[in-house]
This record gives sequence, C-alpha cells and structure tokens, in this order.
Amino acid sequence: MCGIVAYVGPKQAYPILINGLKKLEYRGYDSAGIALLNSSLNVYKTKGKVSELENFVKDVDLRGTIGIAHTRWATHGEPNQANAHPHYSQSREIALIHNGIIENYGLLRKELETRGYTFQSTTDTEVLTNLIEDIKNNEHVSLFDAVRIALNQVIGAYAIVVISYDDPDTLIAARKGSPLVIGIGKDDYYVASDATPIIEYTKNVVYLDDEEVALIQRSSDLKIKTIRNQEKTPYVQQLEMNLTALEKGGYEHFMLKEIYEQPFSIKDSMRGRLHTELGTVSLGGIVDFEPKILAASRIIIVACGTSWHAGLVGEYLFEDLARIPVEVEYASEFRYRNPVINESDVVIAISQSGETADTLAAIELAKSKGATILGICNVVGSSIARATHGGSYTHAGPEIGVASTKAFTAQVTLLTLMALRMASLKGTLSRTRYMQILHALELIPEKVAQTLILSKKTVYEVAEKFKDVRNFLYLGRGYNFPVALEGALKLKEISYIHAEGYPAAEMKHGPIALIDEDMPVVFIATNKGTYDKVVSNIQEVKARKGQVIAIVTEGDTIVKGMADYIIEIPETEEMLVPLLATIPLQKLSYHIAVMRGCNVDQPRNLAKSVTVE
Ligand code: M6R
Repeated sequence: MCGIVAYVGPKQAYPILINGLKKLEYRGYDSAGIALLNSSLNVYKTKGKVSELENFVKDVDLRGTIGIAHTRWATHGEPNQANAHPHYSQSREIALIHNGIIENYGLLRKELETRGYTFQSTTDTEVLTNLIEDIKNNEHVSLFDAVRIALNQVIGAYAIVVISYDDPDTLIAARKGSPLVIGIGKDDYYVASDATPIIEYTKNVVYLDDEEVALIQRSSDLKIKTIRNQEKTPYVQQLEMNLTALEKGGYEHFMLKEIYEQPFSIKDSMRGRLHTELGTVSLGGIVDFEPKILAASRIIIVACGTSWHAGLVGEYLFEDLARIPVEVEYASEFRYRNPVINESDVVIAISQSGETADTLAAIELAKSKGATILGICNVVGSSIARATHGGSYTHAGPEIGVASTKAFTAQVTLLTLMALRMASLKGTLSRTRYMQILHALELIPEKVAQTLILSKKTVYEVAEKFKDVRNFLYLGRGYNFPVALEGALKLKEISYIHAEGYPAAEMKHGPIALIDEDMPVVFIATNKGTYDKVVSNIQEVKARKGQVIAIVTEGDTIVKGMADYIIEIPETEEMLVPLLATIPLQKLSYHIAVMRGCNVDQPRNLAKSVTVE
C-alpha cells in the first residue's frame, strides 16, 4: 500500500522519481505527489494516477537533485489533493511521505493543535510531519534526531522519507512494519518501497529493519541508527532481480504476461529442488526444520487472499500425502481470536509480497507462543521472509498485476514439494506412488503451456458470452474447491462481477436457490477424486436451467454431454490439478475484465501489498 521513491545525488531527481512512481503504482494509485528541493522546497500533488501528476507538473520548474515522491492508497482521509503526499509541515520547511498507519495520530494531532498547529488534511501523515517540526524547533536537535524522537512517540506502522529546506543534501528514511529499501549508487542514493525502481541504477541495496532510521547524505556514507539511538552497520546486499521482469514484454497487461509466464515460473519454483532422477526433493530453507515438522502435532497455515487459497491446497496436500494435520487460517482472524498455539506447532506463513500486515502480525503472535515459523514468500528480503525462522522463496519473479496469478501457482508448487518431502521422510507413500507423483510434477510446466493453448479459444468465447452478467458461481470439490475460490476471487477483483466459490456439494444447502437460466456456473470437473459426485452436481444445475461452464480433463465425454461450454486441461495426478485448472480461470477473468473496460492491472480500491490492517 502506497509507493515511496526518493533520490539524492548529482542527477536530476524528477525523471528518477516519476519513473519510480510508475513502477510502484501497483501499490496504490488514488493520488500521487512529489517534493523537489532546489532554491525552495516545492510540493506538487494531485488526485488520481501518476500520469495525472505528470500532467499536473508539466509547466512547472522541476529542477532539483534531491526529492521525494509518493503514490497513495488511502487509509486516513479520502483520496483527494489535500490528503495526497508529500505533506508539508506547518512552516513548509519539511516535507514527508509515508506508507502505513499512525494509530495514535488523533491524540498527537490534538496536542499539536494546542501548540498552535493547524492542519490542511485529515491524514495521520501530516500529524507526523508537524510532530517532527515541533521537536526540531523546540528541542533544538538535528532533523535526524527530530525524526528519531518523533518515531518514539508514534504507535503504528510506517515507512517514511523526510526532506527539509534547511538540509538540502539530506534524506531521512525510517521504517516499522512497512518496507523500505535504500539503493547505493556510485555517488548517489535511491530509496523505495521495493527494489523495482532501484534496479536500473544499482544492485547494491540495504533493507532497513523495523525501528531503524537512515541518514542519507549526498557524498557521505550511509548511517543507520535505531529510533533508540543505537548505531547499526548497514548490511549491503546484492539484488538478483532482472530488469526485463519488470517490463510488459509486448503484452497488453502485466496480468496477461504473468499468466503466460507460468510454465517458466513453476519451473523456477522447482529448480534445484525436484530431483526426479534421484527420486528426491530438497528444500534448503526448511531442511533444518524437518525434525520439527515431523514431530509437530499439526501445521497451521496463515495467509490472506490468494495466498490463503494456496494454503487450502496445502492443507489437502499435507494431509493427503504426508498425513500431517493442517489448519488453514485467515491471518486477520487468527491474530485476534486468541488461538491455541504450542511450541510443538509449525506455522507456515504464505505471502507473495512478504509485506501483508495481517500475516506479519499472525507470525509475531505465533512466534511469541514459541511456535516454529516457516515462510513461503515471493519477494526476496521482504518483512515476512525476515520475520520467519526459515522457509523457501517461490522464485516466481516480480508480480506486478494486482491480481495474483503466477505467485499462486508457485506457492502451490512449493507446498507440493514440501508435502512430498515430508511424505518421503514419513514413509506415508509407497515408493512407486511417490515416484509417479514426482514424475507428474516434473511435467507440470509443459502441461501449463498446453493448458494455455488448449483453453484459449473457448475461454474467449465464454468471456464474450458472459461478460455482462452480474453474478457467477464457481464450484469444485477436494483439491478443486480452493481452485473454485480462487477463480471467483480473480473474477470479482478485476471485473467487479459478483462471484462466489463453493464446495460443489454445498450448493444444495443454499446457493442452489440462485440458479436460473441467467446464472453461469463454473464447475471444475476433472476426472479424479469426486468426479462422479461433481457430475451429479452439474446435473442438478442443468435441471434448473443454469449455464454450465466446465473445466474438464482432455478427452472427457460425460461432462461434455451436459455442459454448455467445455474447457479442457491435460490429464495429471489429482493433487496437481490446481496447477492446471487455475490457468483458464485466470484467463477467463482477464478477458472479461478487458471486455468490460476495467483496469486489469490496477483494479479499483485494491493495492498489491496490503501493509495496513
Ligand atoms: O502478498 P500476499 O500474498 O500476502 O497478499 C495477500 C492478498 O492480499 C492477495 O493475495 C490478494 O488477495 C490478491 N489481490 C489476489 O489476487
């Protein structure tokens, strides 16, 4: 939520800042702003997207070699110009950008008001800006110390960058709970919410830790202290990200590109981990924790949104293959419901961004109770990756489209590998069965590529036929139940059509009342597990004149005779079907959203990483 970019060095800051904002726009896009320091400190901001900011500043003097910029996802105050960042302090000598929520801002604001401060916005950020100014003036401290002292008074989450007219060579950056990366160039510094705006300039980065404040000065070494004034040595890491991964590469949208990347991203998730020739699975990041997992009374999976759906597939996998009991929890519920957690529990946190606030809080809670925490994250160096005891990266590459696609299939791939590894250690599968699954998994990237081709024509026809409906139902059973949930989520988030996912057998306990000739029902009806039962559910829908769109195994004849539309996917093992069946559902949502004129990569009200509660 919210994208932050800042620059100080010999180059002109504006082009770096505006390009950086474009790369971070997936994090929030309801308003955008920029502050540049030359002979004065100038803030320009506007409601709407970064392109609107570009338009807004086209006639102003944009010179300056130091600046900060922000693209916002509103938390406090509606998305309008006044609430957009950067925020000036009362004297207009300080400007600040912020990602996060200052929970005690109301109290701080009241105190500042009694000292004569007035406010131009309804944001928590403007309160922090004035608090810093107040401390700087009254305690006669440097800007760095004023920021540090102010942050000691703040309750909540923040990633901030501060710039001041009095300090034309200095940026102050700090974080707690929201990510911030500092790029170290030859003679300049870059700051951003993630590494994507930095990678084209430098690969040397420092990830700030919680409660750290960085003093970033032109022609000086980077200095870091904690908010309690303890010196820290900056730990410089090398970025491994590839610049082309951040481009659309000829596709109309990032989402489409990411859907088509899945044969490769799934392969990357398995690389060096799946050794079919040896009959082994090795996951370096969890190897030390395998005895813990084997001894665990249960695994608790915590996640949100699409990652939670991957977690549900994980539940089926761990129980089915390795016979380990699993509970899958919405992180947002888990953190507040006083759950029973023991030292023998293993918690797996799943997150694409590695920054989701609820998932992070669930991790902290489980950690405080002594549980072992493993992470499955896509973003290297992210907060969740660092907060966990161990875990594995999905290696799906940067996912820019707000709707998660390749991250989901990579998460499911990793969970499959983990479950298989545990199954081999526990001996819960015969060697023959284990090897069959390993071989089938190895073939999945190829089969995803086939699915993309096989489903192309029909998915497009189905999208054209149903693009104007108001409701959709998605039904599946067993491993395909989470697929139904994920299909429905994909459709609603990017096309704004109301969609529900259900276990197919639950239909008769309520949703069946919705079925009439206008209701499209997507069945995931592949040929294993409860296939016969799902066939009966299809008949129940047809008997009520519902329109059936069925995802079936290639060559299916039974469902073909009943459904209105058939989308075929290649044959595979039952537990691997989610990796294939999800693909046409992603494409269906994509086409419907495009046909409805929706902004596919940046759907309304959403942001890619949800760093607030
Ligand atoms: O980054 P995370 O995986 O932790 O994000 C969790 C959800 O916010 C995310 O999956 C969200 O539901 C996506 N927009 C779904 O496409």
